[in-house]
Amino acid sequence: MIVCSPMVPQDAFTDFADRYRPEIDAALAQIIDTLPSGCPAKLKEAMRYSLLANGKRIRPLLTLMAADACGAEPRSAMPAACAVEMVHAYSLIHDDLPAMDDDDLRRGQPTNHVMFGEGNAILAGDALLTLAFSVLTESLSSPRIAAECVKILASAAGPFGMVGGQFDDMHAQDGAHTIAHLESIDTRKTGALIEAALLMGAVIAEASEGQMDSLKQYAHAIGLAFQIRDDLLDLVSHASDTGKKVGKDKDQGKLTYPGFLGIDVSKRRLAELTEKATQSLSLFAAADHLKDIARYIAERRQ
Ligand code: IPE
Ligand code: IPE
Ligand code: MG
Ligand code: MG
Ligand code: MG
Repeated sequence: MIVCSPMVPQDAFTDFADRYRPEIDAALAQIIDTLPSGCPAKLKEAMRYSLLANGKRIRPLLTLMAADACGAEPRSAMPAACAVEMVHAYSLIHDDLPAMDDDDLRRGQPTNHVMFGEGNAILAGDALLTLAFSVLTESLSSPRIAAECVKILASAAGPFGMVGGQFDDMHAQDGAHTIAHLESIDTRKTGALIEAALLMGAVIAEASEGQMDSLKQYAHAIGLAFQIRDDLLDLVSHASDTGKKVGKDKDQGKLTYPGFLGIDVSKRRLAELTEKATQSLSLFAAADHLKDIARYIAERRQ
Protein backbone atom coordinates (compact mmCIF):
# COMPACT_ATOMS: atom_id res chain seq x y z
CA MET A 1 0.00 0.00 0.00
CA ILE A 2 1.31 3.45 -0.86
CA VAL A 3 0.83 5.98 1.90
CA CYS A 4 0.76 9.55 0.66
CA SER A 5 2.12 11.88 3.34
CA PRO A 6 0.65 15.37 3.12
CA MET A 7 3.11 18.01 1.93
CA VAL A 8 4.27 20.19 4.80
CA PRO A 9 3.64 23.75 3.62
CA GLN A 10 6.71 25.96 3.92
CA ASP A 11 6.27 29.59 4.80
CA ALA A 12 7.09 32.29 2.29
CA PHE A 13 10.28 33.28 4.11
CA THR A 14 11.65 29.73 4.04
CA ASP A 15 10.82 29.39 0.34
CA PHE A 16 12.56 32.68 -0.41
CA ALA A 17 15.58 31.84 1.77
CA ASP A 18 15.97 28.36 0.22
CA ARG A 19 16.03 29.98 -3.18
CA TYR A 20 18.27 32.99 -2.58
CA ARG A 21 20.66 32.02 0.25
CA PRO A 22 22.86 29.94 -2.08
CA GLU A 23 22.94 32.84 -4.54
CA ILE A 24 23.91 35.28 -1.78
CA ASP A 25 26.70 32.95 -0.64
CA ALA A 26 27.94 32.58 -4.22
CA ALA A 27 27.90 36.36 -4.77
CA LEU A 28 29.84 36.96 -1.53
CA ALA A 29 32.39 34.31 -2.46
CA GLN A 30 32.82 35.87 -5.88
CA ILE A 31 33.52 39.29 -4.39
CA ILE A 32 36.35 37.90 -2.27
CA ASP A 33 37.69 35.47 -4.87
CA THR A 34 37.91 38.09 -7.60
CA LEU A 35 39.63 40.77 -5.52
CA PRO A 36 42.31 42.38 -7.67
CA SER A 37 45.88 41.39 -6.82
CA GLY A 38 47.33 43.75 -4.27
CA CYS A 39 45.25 42.53 -1.33
CA PRO A 40 47.62 40.59 0.96
CA ALA A 41 46.77 36.86 0.86
CA LYS A 42 46.42 36.57 4.65
CA LEU A 43 44.08 39.58 4.78
CA LYS A 44 41.92 38.04 2.06
CA GLU A 45 41.86 34.76 3.99
CA ALA A 46 40.75 36.54 7.18
CA MET A 47 38.00 38.43 5.32
CA ARG A 48 36.77 35.24 3.64
CA TYR A 49 36.87 33.31 6.91
CA SER A 50 34.24 35.49 8.62
CA LEU A 51 32.21 36.61 5.63
CA LEU A 52 31.60 33.13 4.27
CA ALA A 53 31.07 31.45 7.65
CA ASN A 54 27.67 29.99 8.39
CA GLY A 55 25.55 33.11 9.01
CA LYS A 56 21.78 33.26 8.63
CA ARG A 57 22.03 35.96 5.91
CA ILE A 58 18.99 37.76 7.34
CA ARG A 59 20.10 41.22 6.20
CA PRO A 60 20.84 40.33 2.55
CA LEU A 61 17.58 38.36 2.40
CA LEU A 62 15.75 41.46 3.66
CA THR A 63 17.35 43.53 0.89
CA LEU A 64 16.19 41.09 -1.78
CA MET A 65 12.72 40.78 -0.20
CA ALA A 66 12.25 44.56 -0.05
CA ALA A 67 13.23 44.88 -3.72
CA ASP A 68 10.78 42.10 -4.55
CA ALA A 69 7.95 43.61 -2.49
CA CYS A 70 8.49 46.92 -4.28
CA GLY A 71 8.22 45.29 -7.69
CA ALA A 72 11.85 44.67 -8.76
CA GLU A 73 13.63 41.46 -9.67
CA PRO A 74 15.29 40.49 -6.34
CA ARG A 75 18.65 39.76 -8.00
CA SER A 76 18.92 43.39 -9.10
CA ALA A 77 19.56 44.19 -5.42
CA MET A 78 22.31 41.57 -4.98
CA PRO A 79 25.21 44.11 -4.76
CA ALA A 80 23.40 45.91 -1.93
CA ALA A 81 22.56 42.58 -0.27
CA CYS A 82 26.27 41.68 -0.34
CA ALA A 83 27.31 45.13 0.90
CA VAL A 84 25.08 44.99 3.98
CA GLU A 85 26.27 41.47 4.82
CA MET A 86 29.89 42.68 4.53
CA VAL A 87 29.24 45.56 6.93
CA HIS A 88 27.47 43.11 9.27
CA ALA A 89 30.43 40.67 9.12
CA TYR A 90 32.82 43.52 9.96
CA SER A 91 30.61 44.53 12.91
CA LEU A 92 30.70 40.96 14.24
CA ILE A 93 34.51 40.70 13.93
CA HIS A 94 34.94 43.93 15.90
CA ASP A 95 32.14 43.09 18.39
CA ASP A 96 34.00 39.87 19.29
CA LEU A 97 37.37 41.54 19.94
CA PRO A 98 38.84 41.33 23.47
CA ALA A 99 38.38 45.09 23.81
CA MET A 100 34.65 44.69 23.16
CA ASP A 101 32.67 41.51 23.96
CA ASP A 102 35.74 39.27 24.07
CA ASP A 103 34.13 36.25 22.40
CA ASP A 104 35.94 33.24 21.04
CA LEU A 105 33.11 31.51 19.15
CA ARG A 106 31.10 32.94 16.25
CA ARG A 107 29.02 31.24 13.57
CA GLY A 108 30.13 27.92 15.05
CA GLN A 109 33.85 28.56 14.59
CA PRO A 110 36.65 30.37 16.44
CA THR A 111 36.33 34.14 16.17
CA ASN A 112 38.43 36.04 13.67
CA HIS A 113 40.95 37.37 16.21
CA VAL A 114 41.40 33.88 17.70
CA MET A 115 42.26 32.55 14.23
CA PHE A 116 44.26 35.45 12.82
CA GLY A 117 45.31 37.64 15.77
CA GLU A 118 43.81 40.90 16.97
CA GLY A 119 45.55 43.29 14.62
CA ASN A 120 44.70 41.19 11.57
CA ALA A 121 41.07 40.86 12.72
CA ILE A 122 40.73 44.63 13.11
CA LEU A 123 42.08 45.10 9.59
CA ALA A 124 39.90 42.32 8.13
CA GLY A 125 36.89 44.14 9.61
CA ASP A 126 38.08 47.48 8.22
CA ALA A 127 38.62 45.87 4.81
CA LEU A 128 35.11 44.36 4.70
CA LEU A 129 33.58 47.70 5.70
CA THR A 130 35.37 49.69 3.03
CA LEU A 131 34.99 47.02 0.34
CA ALA A 132 31.22 47.08 0.92
CA PHE A 133 31.12 50.64 -0.40
CA SER A 134 33.24 49.72 -3.43
CA VAL A 135 30.72 46.98 -4.22
CA LEU A 136 27.86 49.49 -4.08
CA THR A 137 29.58 52.01 -6.33
CA GLU A 138 30.94 49.47 -8.82
CA SER A 139 28.13 46.93 -9.12
CA LEU A 140 24.85 48.84 -9.07
CA SER A 141 23.61 49.80 -12.51
CA SER A 142 22.71 53.45 -11.90
CA PRO A 143 25.14 55.97 -10.29
CA ARG A 144 22.14 57.78 -8.73
CA ILE A 145 20.89 54.61 -7.05
CA ALA A 146 24.44 53.67 -6.02
CA ALA A 147 24.89 57.08 -4.38
CA GLU A 148 21.56 56.73 -2.57
CA CYS A 149 22.58 53.27 -1.28
CA VAL A 150 26.00 54.56 -0.14
CA LYS A 151 24.23 57.30 1.79
CA ILE A 152 21.82 54.85 3.46
CA LEU A 153 24.50 52.30 4.39
CA ALA A 154 27.06 54.87 5.58
CA SER A 155 24.54 56.57 7.80
CA ALA A 156 23.30 53.24 9.25
CA ALA A 157 26.81 51.94 9.93
CA GLY A 158 28.26 55.11 11.42
CA PRO A 159 28.15 57.23 14.58
CA PHE A 160 24.39 57.85 14.45
CA GLY A 161 23.71 54.18 13.76
CA MET A 162 25.51 50.91 14.48
CA VAL A 163 28.81 52.36 15.75
CA GLY A 164 27.00 54.82 18.04
CA GLY A 165 24.81 52.00 19.36
CA GLN A 166 27.83 49.79 19.96
CA PHE A 167 29.54 52.67 21.77
CA ASP A 168 26.59 53.19 24.12
CA ASP A 169 26.26 49.41 24.58
CA MET A 170 29.89 49.29 25.75
CA HIS A 171 29.28 52.05 28.26
CA ALA A 172 25.89 50.88 29.53
CA GLN A 173 27.25 48.58 32.24
CA ASP A 174 26.89 51.14 34.98
CA GLY A 175 24.32 53.65 36.04
CA ALA A 176 20.57 53.95 36.00
CA HIS A 177 18.82 53.28 32.72
CA THR A 178 15.44 53.74 31.11
CA ILE A 179 13.57 51.57 28.64
CA ALA A 180 13.94 54.41 26.15
CA HIS A 181 17.75 54.28 26.45
CA LEU A 182 17.79 50.49 26.12
CA GLU A 183 15.58 50.61 23.02
CA SER A 184 17.68 53.40 21.57
CA ILE A 185 20.84 51.27 21.92
CA ASP A 186 19.18 48.24 20.31
CA THR A 187 17.64 50.30 17.54
CA ARG A 188 21.03 51.74 16.63
CA LYS A 189 23.41 48.84 17.20
CA THR A 190 21.20 46.28 15.45
CA GLY A 191 18.15 47.99 13.96
CA ALA A 192 20.06 50.51 11.86
CA LEU A 193 21.70 47.93 9.57
CA ILE A 194 18.43 46.03 9.28
CA GLU A 195 16.71 49.23 8.19
CA ALA A 196 19.50 49.95 5.68
CA ALA A 197 19.13 46.44 4.27
CA LEU A 198 15.45 47.05 3.57
CA LEU A 199 15.76 50.62 2.34
CA MET A 200 18.52 49.81 -0.15
CA GLY A 201 16.31 47.09 -1.64
CA ALA A 202 13.46 49.60 -1.87
CA VAL A 203 15.65 52.30 -3.46
CA ILE A 204 16.90 49.83 -6.10
CA ALA A 205 13.24 49.03 -6.87
CA GLU A 206 12.50 52.77 -7.19
CA ALA A 207 9.92 52.43 -4.39
CA SER A 208 7.30 55.10 -3.73
CA GLU A 209 7.52 57.36 -0.69
CA GLY A 210 4.63 55.45 0.88
CA GLN A 211 6.45 52.14 0.44
CA MET A 212 9.64 53.63 1.93
CA ASP A 213 7.72 54.93 4.96
CA SER A 214 6.03 51.57 5.50
CA LEU A 215 9.38 49.77 5.30
CA LYS A 216 10.88 52.21 7.84
CA GLN A 217 8.12 51.36 10.32
CA TYR A 218 8.54 47.66 9.59
CA ALA A 219 12.33 47.96 10.01
CA HIS A 220 12.02 49.71 13.34
CA ALA A 221 9.85 46.91 14.70
CA ILE A 222 11.91 43.96 13.43
CA GLY A 223 15.23 45.65 14.23
CA LEU A 224 14.35 45.99 17.89
CA ALA A 225 12.76 42.52 17.92
CA PHE A 226 15.96 41.06 16.44
CA GLN A 227 18.06 42.27 19.37
CA ILE A 228 15.48 41.32 22.02
CA ARG A 229 15.44 37.79 20.60
CA ASP A 230 19.27 37.78 20.53
CA ASP A 231 19.32 38.79 24.20
CA LEU A 232 16.78 36.07 25.08
CA LEU A 233 18.81 33.45 23.23
CA ASP A 234 21.88 34.48 25.22
CA LEU A 235 19.88 33.62 28.36
CA VAL A 236 18.07 30.44 27.40
CA SER A 237 19.81 28.89 24.40
CA HIS A 238 22.86 26.72 23.73
CA ALA A 239 26.04 27.39 21.77
CA SER A 240 25.21 24.33 19.64
CA ASP A 241 22.14 26.24 18.35
CA THR A 242 23.46 29.80 18.17
CA GLY A 243 27.05 29.06 17.10
CA LYS A 244 28.25 31.52 19.74
CA LYS A 245 28.85 31.39 23.49
CA VAL A 246 25.72 31.96 25.59
CA GLY A 247 25.22 33.38 29.08
CA LYS A 248 27.77 36.11 28.48
CA ASP A 249 25.55 39.19 28.62
CA LYS A 250 24.82 38.69 32.32
CA ASP A 251 28.45 37.93 33.17
CA GLN A 252 29.54 41.11 31.40
CA GLY A 253 26.81 43.22 33.00
CA LYS A 254 25.28 44.08 29.61
CA LEU A 255 22.14 46.16 29.48
CA THR A 256 19.71 43.78 27.78
CA TYR A 257 15.94 43.65 27.40
CA PRO A 258 15.40 40.46 29.45
CA GLY A 259 18.06 41.55 31.95
CA PHE A 260 16.30 44.86 32.51
CA LEU A 261 12.64 43.85 32.20
CA GLY A 262 12.56 40.08 32.56
CA ILE A 263 11.81 37.22 30.17
CA ASP A 264 8.00 37.54 30.18
CA VAL A 265 7.97 41.26 29.38
CA SER A 266 10.56 40.64 26.65
CA LYS A 267 8.38 37.95 25.06
CA ARG A 268 5.34 40.22 25.20
CA ARG A 269 7.32 43.02 23.56
CA LEU A 270 8.40 40.59 20.83
CA ALA A 271 4.79 39.66 20.09
CA GLU A 272 3.79 43.32 20.02
CA LEU A 273 6.65 44.21 17.64
CA THR A 274 5.82 41.31 15.31
CA GLU A 275 2.21 42.51 15.15
CA LYS A 276 3.39 46.07 14.44
CA ALA A 277 5.74 44.84 11.72
CA THR A 278 2.93 42.91 10.03
CA GLN A 279 0.53 45.85 10.20
CA SER A 280 3.05 48.19 8.66
CA LEU A 281 3.06 46.06 5.49
CA SER A 282 -0.63 46.64 4.67
CA LEU A 283 0.28 48.78 1.64
CA PHE A 284 2.05 45.93 -0.14
CA ALA A 285 0.19 43.56 -2.42
CA ALA A 286 2.69 40.72 -1.95
CA ALA A 287 4.78 40.80 1.22
CA ASP A 288 4.17 37.38 2.79
CA HIS A 289 7.93 36.74 2.91
CA LEU A 290 8.42 39.96 4.94
CA LYS A 291 5.58 38.97 7.28
CA ASP A 292 7.00 35.48 7.76
CA ILE A 293 10.58 36.68 8.36
CA ALA A 294 9.25 39.06 11.05
CA ARG A 295 7.75 36.06 12.84
CA TYR A 296 10.93 34.06 12.32
CA ILE A 297 13.02 36.90 13.82
CA ALA A 298 10.90 36.90 16.99
CA GLU A 299 10.81 33.10 17.37
CA ARG A 300 14.16 31.98 16.00
CA ARG A 301 16.40 29.56 17.91
CA GLN A 302 19.63 30.49 16.13
C1 IPE B 1 24.16 38.74 15.40
O1 IPE B 1 23.47 38.82 14.18
C2 IPE B 1 24.47 40.09 15.91
C3 IPE B 1 23.31 40.91 16.25
C4 IPE B 1 23.05 42.00 15.64
C5 IPE B 1 22.45 40.52 17.34
P1 IPE B 1 22.89 37.52 13.48
O2 IPE B 1 22.10 36.73 14.48
O3 IPE B 1 22.19 37.92 12.24
O4 IPE B 1 24.21 36.71 13.13
P2 IPE B 1 24.56 35.81 11.87
O5 IPE B 1 24.75 36.71 10.71
O6 IPE B 1 23.44 34.83 11.65
O7 IPE B 1 25.84 35.12 12.27
C1 IPE C 1 25.97 43.24 18.79
O1 IPE C 1 25.07 42.75 19.72
C2 IPE C 1 25.39 43.74 17.60
C3 IPE C 1 26.42 44.22 16.66
C4 IPE C 1 26.36 45.40 16.19
C5 IPE C 1 27.51 43.37 16.22
P1 IPE C 1 25.61 41.52 20.54
O2 IPE C 1 26.95 41.76 21.09
O3 IPE C 1 24.55 41.06 21.47
O4 IPE C 1 25.75 40.43 19.36
P2 IPE C 1 26.25 38.93 19.59
O5 IPE C 1 25.35 38.32 20.62
O6 IPE C 1 27.67 39.03 20.03
O7 IPE C 1 26.08 38.30 18.24
MG1 MG D 1 28.10 43.40 21.61
MG1 MG E 1 28.61 40.38 21.13
MG1 MG F 1 24.02 39.05 21.85
